[in-house]
Amino acid sequence: MKEQLEALEKRVRRAVEEADAVEKLAELKIGFLGKKGEITQLSRLMGSLSAEERPAMGQMVNQVKQQAEALIEEKMAYLQQQAQQLRLRAERIDITLPGRPVNTGARHIITSVQQQIEDIFIGLGYQVVEGPQVETDYYNFEAMNIPRDHPARDMQDSFYFSPQMLLRTHTSPVQARIMEKMQGKLPVKIISPGAVYRRDEDATHTPMFHQVEALLVDERVTFADLSGTLLAFARQMFGEERQIRMRPSYFPFTEPSAEVDISCFACGGEGCRLCKGSGWIEILGSGMVHPRVLEMSGYDPKHCSGFAFGMGIERIAMLKYGINDLRLLFDNDVRFLSSFWGGQK
Ligand code: FA5
Ligand code: MG
Repeated sequence: MKEQLEALEKRVRRAVEEADAVEKLAELKIGFLGKKGEITQLSRLMGSLSAEERPAMGQMVNQVKQQAEALIEEKMAYLQQQAQQLRLRAERIDITLPGRPVNTGARHIITSVQQQIEDIFIGLGYQVVEGPQVETDYYNFEAMNIPRDHPARDMQDSFYFSPQMLLRTHTSPVQARIMEKMQGKLPVKIISPGAVYRRDEDATHTPMFHQVEALLVDERVTFADLSGTLLAFARQMFGEERQIRMRPSYFPFTEPSAEVDISCFACGGEGCRLCKGSGWIEILGSGMVHPRVLEMSGYDPKHCSGFAFGMGIERIAMLKYGINDLRLLFDNDVRFLSSFWGGQK
């Protein structure tokens, strides 16, 4: 038994030395010291020894056992420390490295300008409403006093889905929709922003663009209210120094009608390619709501009157920020778009 013990001790020593992982060592521990472990089993043999042999052997078994426990514990501590060091090395962070830039999003310049326009009119007591972009022929044209075969349909070359359905060519159909909904009640005082679509493309025209419609219907609304409102808007949007002018124009749904121009930002009014030599850029169409339009939507032109206008959001953005090609707004080049982020609210 003595030789057995000595051999066992040697094996324990070597096995512990060779164990290179916490899991392996745990297995060794069970194999030597567990309930069915080799050392445990040897100590059970003590009973078969004579009374003289027993004390010396008992001591020896105990020694081997304690030594094995100590060896395993020591190696365990070593292996655990090593594992932790490896983990720490893997998780190491070099705080002297330069940081990666965090790219945050921001509003598109068109959305931002739309919100600025909304804020100005909310301040004047208008409500913001929205209408559908896929519109019926009735609301887009008929209710706006543009019957079939009317030459004004050519002014806004359209995208049709069917003879009855099209992408709206302007935000004016919201006028008829909101008046129908209000059922003759006064005042009607709304603005309606959104996308509109036309077969159009050059430096100041794109096939999809945005308008804000405004409609005020009440007792005794006059042309002076219209021009005063437009002037108040232009001053808040562009500042006192910007020139605006009203020019007689024609729309089937307003009478009289006027278009509003703002002095060209590119040439300051001298005339250039952008303003086609005129020194002015058109930003909106406007006028007094045509009596037929009021009537068709359930309002009596004998008891009320109104003004309306529709402005191009892209044009306003170009004028305010000096953008010389409308198409830049839709190319989504972040280098271009981000150049406006600083000035946004
Ligand atoms: C209209 O769309 C009328 N519905 C406006 C109106 C409303 C008049 C209410 C009277 C009463 P017009 O086609 O001129 O009118 O367009 C209005 C504005 O939209 C223009 O002044 C311009 O600023 C902008 N616009 C027109 N076409 C384009 C385009 N292709 N790309 C970008 N902006 C455009
Ligand atoms: Mg026009």
